[in-house]
Amino acid sequence: MLGGGGREHALAWKLAQSPGCSSLFAAPGNPGIAEHATLVDLDLARHDSVVAFCRAQGIGLVVIGPEAPLVDGLADSLRAANIPVFGPSAAAAQLEGSKGFTKDLCRAAGIPTAAYVRCTDAATALTQLDAFTLPVVIKADGLAAGKGVIIAATRAEAEAAIADMFGGSFGASGAEVVIEEFLEGEEASFFALTDGKHVVPFGSAQDHKRVGEGDTGPNTGGMGAYSPASVLTPALEREVMAKMIRPTVAAMAARGMPYSGVLFAGLMLTADGPKLIEYNCRFGDPECQVLMMRLEGDLVELLLSVAQGRLDERSAPRLSADPALTVVVAARGYPGMPEKGGAITLPATGAEGHIFQAGTALAEGRLVANGGRVLSVTARGNSVTGARDGAYAMVDAVDYADGFCRRDIGWREIAREAAAAI
Ligand code: AMP
Ligand code: GLY
Repeated sequence: MLGGGGREHALAWKLAQSPGCSSLFAAPGNPGIAEHATLVDLDLARHDSVVAFCRAQGIGLVVIGPEAPLVDGLADSLRAANIPVFGPSAAAAQLEGSKGFTKDLCRAAGIPTAAYVRCTDAATALTQLDAFTLPVVIKADGLAAGKGVIIAATRAEAEAAIADMFGGSFGASGAEVVIEEFLEGEEASFFALTDGKHVVPFGSAQDHKRVGEGDTGPNTGGMGAYSPASVLTPALEREVMAKMIRPTVAAMAARGMPYSGVLFAGLMLTADGPKLIEYNCRFGDPECQVLMMRLEGDLVELLLSVAQGRLDERSAPRLSADPALTVVVAARGYPGMPEKGGAITLPATGAEGHIFQAGTALAEGRLVANGGRVLSVTARGNSVTGARDGAYAMVDAVDYADGFCRRDIGWREIAREAAAAI
């Protein structure tokens, strides 16, 4: 298991429950992951040392959590050494690593998405702006840790964003810029597993990206999520599979870069139907936490069947009908400069919930905060409202004076459940 956030804690927690998992190693991991895995110190940028470690330990499956090592080709290096790996090749990870690549693929395959232009210099970008109405979306082409998207309400903001990106604020990620039509609607996330040929749906979720209640304030990596997202009805899920996911998997295979791993589609449910906002080449964080809380059965066997190209030989993965909800507890200051070092005491949790750790560390044997998003407090219930009540009961039992969370995670769905109950 490679990575060390809340997503990876949820994966490690579930992997460790598999009968086929005799030993689990994690790099870099975190103190929560250490409850399920032996932590090892590996530099993920040094592919030869990761391969050597896997060979020495006879590792039967490597699960890569975050996008950066995927875009960097770590899965290619492991595959070249015949080590089964869950995660796409560098070429396939361009679906997340280059927004322009994905937009061109959508255009070629007829996948519904926002109108766009790709620009490699500021002068062209400024001219192209004229073709768009306001608000307009300006994106750095490459990975920018979720910060490379500006929704410009005015022409001046759009011009400033273009100047900023070509001026180097996002490093190499901003060497190319995509200008996009602004889409209106409710957002939802959809997940599919594919081994390059076969595809299965793997559930939906809704994230809360803004730091403040009522979806206000700056964007974050995600302050909470729930699954399933009922706005993505079974009919819409079938439409997304037919019009986006399957054509994408087929187009990637046809280009000689088959996509193997989880394909995470960020969707806008517009008046004209679902449109693709973006793809990610890995599980969402914190969406993964709610998916793992709902997953029934053996995660090792499932991810290994993806890694080995035999997803068709097994039954479809099952997610419990019971929803799950996760509340992120962040360190004061996040998403700016989070305060590090705050002491944390966690309560015991039962079968219906788990506290996944993200930015935590041990200092003299005590658990302390060591990052922006610190905990991901996750519960299952017989409704989103029930899961929310369970998650906040656990949040309230956490002793972490320097932390904060949003109190309204799941609000759209909870309002729908309340309306349906009348
Ligand atoms: P990310 O790339 O995950 O940082 O996402 C940026 C966020 O910007 C998305 O979750 C959407 O809320 C928003 N966004 C991106 N593209 C568009 C678009 N074309 N229209 C409207 N909102 C967008
Ligand atoms: N929570 C959004 C993401 O993982 O990209």
